[in-house]
Amino acid sequence: MTTTKGLEGVVATTSAISSITNDVLTYRGYSIQDLAEHSNFEECIYLLWNGELPTDNQLDIFKNKLAENAGVPNEIFALIKAYPLQTVHPMAVLRTAVSALGVLDPDADRMDLLSNKDKAIRIQAKIATIVAGFARIRQGAEPVAPNKNLGFAANFLYMLKGRIPTEVETRAFDTALVLHADHELNASTFTARVCVATLSDIYSGVTSAIGALKGPLHGGANEQVMNMLEKIGSLDNVNFYIENALASKEKIMGFGHRVYKNGDPRARILKKMADQLTKLDGDARYYEMSVRIEQLLREKKGLLPNTDFYSATLYHALGIEKDLFTPVFAMSRTSGWVAHILEQYSDNRLIRPRAEYNGPGLRPYLAMSER
Ligand code: SDX
Repeated sequence: MTTTKGLEGVVATTSAISSITNDVLTYRGYSIQDLAEHSNFEECIYLLWNGELPTDNQLDIFKNKLAENAGVPNEIFALIKAYPLQTVHPMAVLRTAVSALGVLDPDADRMDLLSNKDKAIRIQAKIATIVAGFARIRQGAEPVAPNKNLGFAANFLYMLKGRIPTEVETRAFDTALVLHADHELNASTFTARVCVATLSDIYSGVTSAIGALKGPLHGGANEQVMNMLEKIGSLDNVNFYIENALASKEKIMGFGHRVYKNGDPRARILKKMADQLTKLDGDARYYEMSVRIEQLLREKKGLLPNTDFYSATLYHALGIEKDLFTPVFAMSRTSGWVAHILEQYSDNRLIRPRAEYNGPGLRPYLAMSER
């Protein structure tokens, strides 16, 4: 038995959903560059779940199903109102709320494909309403009901801010959702697959994935990037902060990747979007700081930005509070988690690796008097 720490480089399964080969990311064979430019989030969800791009009619039906299922049972917001909202992390709220959705769904434990696809739509549609509703409740306001005439991206911004977003805001946010939808066997997706490989239900799979995404080494990094930018404060302070951080062996959030060694293709697209949006809203401060940080990390550590780095500036420019950045990541990645859950169910084998034991050898029981 050879131990591979962190399963680095270990191929744990085959999958037809997304591929990362030579730093090229594709969903069902379509490059994320093409999808970011020509597609939209609902079309990508359909592609990830069904394997093909939808026809006009199929997309209309799918969008309507998402819109019809975006409402959230009152019990969920009643639960959220009972939480310590000013101190609890939104990812803990999201993890608990999705689990509660499962408690309230009479079909939660049905395992036929049709009911799993119906549950997938319910989870995907409701997760955005939960995140926006939580944010409003935390501000002391009531949740804004979803608007059936808006697409997923616009609806989230509408429910979050209580106003219809501009075309530019909607397009930027929709593209960010496309870019975060799936990413092969990342930690949270692998968590979901391990969970449902026991034939546990889809709500358990998504709930466990939310738990994994929460960590700062994974989806939690985007919020940490914003914390770092706020802590640095201005372009003049960047060099001093970064040099000190690197000297004390700190991990700079938003940099590095287990798979990409020549740069994360999503970061390049998000960087362009952050530049455009911050120029529009007239506050390019965080963008300019980010460019300087990227330059320093490349020069000093040969490290390149990952998807979490420029998404922080982009979400900030969209007026999203920083502790909602990872819930936004979860809203998008739910589409990927569900695709992998359905794929795992379709050709399942319990996922059960081994551990190389390095504890004490066999030894006799010790009576209390001998301890
Ligand atoms: C996501 O897997 C996915 O696909 C994830 C994701 C997705 O879409 O699902 O892409 C989303 O999670 C992106 C990653 C977000 N996390 C962060 O930005 C946190 C900061 N990054 C690091 O913690 C790290 O780069 C990881 C966790 C992303 C990858 O870690 P690895 O592969 O275990 O690499 P490592 O920690 O072994 O680092 C190798 C070397 C080390 O130097 P040495 O100790 O060998 O001298 O590079 C250094 C590290 O110290 N290094 C960093 C660094 N990342 C790696 N040094 C400073 N800052 C960093 N960010």
